[in-house]
Amino acid sequence: MKSLDADFIDGLATLRFSDEELLRFCEFLYQRTGISYNQTKRFYIERRLVERMSRVGTRSFSAYMNLIRVGGAEAEQVINSFTVNETYFYREDHQLRCLVNALLPEIVRGRQSGDLVRIWCVPCSTGEEPYSVAIWLLENWPMVDAYNIELVGSDIDTRALAAALAGNYGERALSRLSKEIIERYFEAPHDQNRQIIRDLRESVKFTRANLLDSTAMSAQGRFDIVFCRNVLIYFDDESRSTASNNLFSALNPGGFVCLGHSESMTRISCRFAIRRFEDAIVYQRAVT
Ligand SMILES: C[S@@+](CC[C@H](N)C(=O)[O-])C[C@H]1O[C@@H](n2cnc3c(N)ncnc32)[C@H](O)[C@@H]1O
Repeated sequence: MKSLDADFIDGLATLRFSDEELLRFCEFLYQRTGISYNQTKRFYIERRLVERMSRVGTRSFSAYMNLIRVGGAEAEQVINSFTVNETYFYREDHQLRCLVNALLPEIVRGRQSGDLVRIWCVPCSTGEEPYSVAIWLLENWPMVDAYNIELVGSDIDTRALAAALAGNYGERALSRLSKEIIERYFEAPHDQNRQIIRDLRESVKFTRANLLDSTAMSAQGRFDIVFCRNVLIYFDDESRSTASNNLFSALNPGGFVCLGHSESMTRISCRFAIRRFEDAIVYQRAVT
C-alpha cells in the first residue's frame, strides 16, 4: 500500500468524476452491499473515492474500478469507507426491555435448563449493540445463567468488526450507560477510552456477514432472536426484500426480528407475523 503523497493528493483533489463514472461506482457499491447512493451524494462519494484511489496510487477511475471489481483487499477497504457505522450502547433500549420481558420468556418456554439460545446482532457495527445485549441480560434477566446463550455480532465492515473485537469505547458511545454499569463492565479509562472487560469481549463471537448474501447468512446457522437495526434505511426496496428473506431463513421457527425505530417489515415482507408487545413491535417467523 502506498503512503499518501501531498502532490499526488493535490492532483487527485482536482479530480471530478463524470456522471457515468459516479453511476458505475454506485452500482458496484449497491451490488456488493445493498447500500443505495446516487448523484445527490456526489461530494461525499468523490471525497471517499479520491482518498481510496490515493491510497492505492491511481488517478485512473477505470483502473480503480478494475481493481475493486476483482474483489480482494481493496474492494473490502472501499466498502468499509462507505458504510455508516453510527451506534452506541443501550440504543433503543425499549427493545432490550422487550427482549427480557417478552421475547426470551417465549423462546425458552418448553426448553430445558442448559439449552442453547442464539441471539444475533446483524449488523453490529463496532460492537456496542451485542455488548449492550450481553450487559442487559446480565443486569436484567434472572434466568441468564439457566441457559447456554450464544451471542453473535456480524457486519459487512471488517474495520468495524476489528474495533468490536478490541472493545475500546469513548465517552459518546458510553453516554447512555450509568456510572455503575461502566464501573462494572469496563476497564479503567485509558487515553479517554474504556475497554469492555475481557469476560464480555469473550462472550460475543464476531463474524463477517453480508445481509444480501444468502450463503454467508445461512453459514451462521439459525437464531432465536435477530437484531437487525438501522441498516435497512440505507437499502432500496429490492435489497430490503433480499435481506428480509435472508433474515427469515436465519430464524428458528417462532424466532423474532427486531428492526430500528424508523424501519418496518410490513412494507417489505408478508412472511413475518407482527407482534405488538408492551415495549416494542417485533416481527416473528411462524412457529410451524
Ligand atoms: C448504522 S449501523 C447500525 C449498527 C447497529 N445495528 C445499531 O443500530 O446501532 C449500520 C451498519 O450496517 C452495516 N452494513 C451495511 N450494509 C450491510 C450489509 N449488506 N450486510 C451487513 N452489514 C451491513 C454497516 O457496515 C454499519 O456498520
